[in-house]
Amino acid sequence: MSKKPIIVFEGIEGSGKTLHANHLSKYLKKKKIKFIKLREPGGNISSEKIRKLILNNKSNFHKVTDLLLYLASRNENLENSIKKNYGKKIILIDRFIDSTVAYQHYGMGIDYKFINFINDFLIKKIKINITFLNLVNVKNLRLRLSRRKNLNRYDKFKFNFYKKIQNGYIKISKKNKNKYVMIDSNEPILDNKNRIIKEVNKLLK
Ligand code: TMP
Repeated sequence: MSKKPIIVFEGIEGSGKTLHANHLSKYLKKKKIKFIKLREPGGNISSEKIRKLILNNKSNFHKVTDLLLYLASRNENLENSIKKNYGKKIILIDRFIDSTVAYQHYGMGIDYKFINFINDFLIKKIKINITFLNLVNVKNLRLRLSRRKNLNRYDKFKFNFYKKIQNGYIKISKKNKNKYVMIDSNEPILDNKNRIIKEVNKLLK
């Protein structure tokens, strides 16, 4: 196992993935462990430009255009940040290839093989070591979505859409069970935070 793993946080809106990615980055900083942290869409200057374009409330792209923009943003991250640091520093990513399969295939119905083909073409030999899949129950999802302010284009989907995507994530994780750690985001944050740190420390040993 690589001592400089790629660690990915996935999950739907309100699942706590960004919170945990931020907690982990604070922990690594405190321990003086070198890492880089990215988010998708976004991550570096050019991909943040693409992020703004996709998520802007005034944008109204066709679903395949959205897909291609997410992939374009990913390519910028791969070429400018991930490939350079792969194996040299820990790489934390808030959303990665599974988001595209979950949202664009399971959510929007775009062909699975097409998405996988481009994802594979972009990431080449790069391997994700662990994915923390953050899951939220129906009650908390309703509550958390209702509390959101400043909604972007992708925050405005209907409740059932997010349920479909979360089920999609679960299907994806079943294909490669040993690379996924399920985080039940209905449990206390502190317990989950400690669990994530424990899992990461196992990887770094
Ligand atoms: P965020 O809220 O985690 O910053 O993500 C922004 C939105 O982008 C979120 O609704 C999920 C969506 N998304 C996709 O639909 N496909 C993708 O490939 C990625 C990376 C994100």
